[in-house]
Amino acid sequence: MTILITAGPTREAIDPVRYLTNRSSGKMGYALADAAAQKGHRVILVSGPTEIDVPDGIDFIPTESAADMYQAVEYWIGKADIAIFAAAVADYRPALIAEQKIKKSGDTLTLELVRNPDILGSARSTFEFNGVLVGFAAETEDVEENALGKLERKGCDLVVANDVSRKDIGFDSNENEILLVYPDRIVPLEKATKEHLGHLLIERIIRLKNAS
Ligand code: CTP
Repeated sequence: MTILITAGPTREAIDPVRYLTNRSSGKMGYALADAAAQKGHRVILVSGPTEIDVPDGIDFIPTESAADMYQAVEYWIGKADIAIFAAAVADYRPALIAEQKIKKSGDTLTLELVRNPDILGSARSTFEFNGVLVGFAAETEDVEENALGKLERKGCDLVVANDVSRKDIGFDSNENEILLVYPDRIVPLEKATKEHLGHLLIERIIRLKNAS
């Protein structure tokens, strides 16, 4: 099977030396890519900037901003049977990118931000993707309710949710504790390494594809 995975943060340029970004190491997305490749699937990894070595045997598409990631997904998603959106995409970008480095002047500086396209939210409606669609939800409160809302709004078959307010899991950690939110049920998985969860998730997502 061909599996497209988005991973890592995006970078939204402010000027030639500064950018806005999200807290994301990319570890969960890369663990999924690795697990899927080890099972012999073709993996297309569309990734924002991370510190992680690219796993062997995958098609790696490096991107920087949300707009770059959107274009790469738009191009590649037609080839995929399964699409997993693990990237932490910046919801907003600066309205203007200054051509020169912004110099200090007053005591405050106001940046105008504009909305970025919702890549996962475009999968069904704009890219007309009809394979298995998996989203992620990083929440700080009402985890189940927020994840279910995302599942419905974005037309997902599964949303992988976690509570990012906990210090021991998520973001830079090597471990995670996740909830699998399906349209008709919620399945908690025990705290485990991202590597182990990568394997468990790929197994369950392949099962969804085989049942569809
Ligand atoms: N996502 C995406 N493109 C965006 C924003 C998010 O593809 N511009 C994807 C993420 O990769 C993740 C899921 O959507 O799979 C979660 O997105 P999130 O931003 O948390 O969801 P929203 O519905 O925008 O909700 P919130 O109000 O919490 O930002």
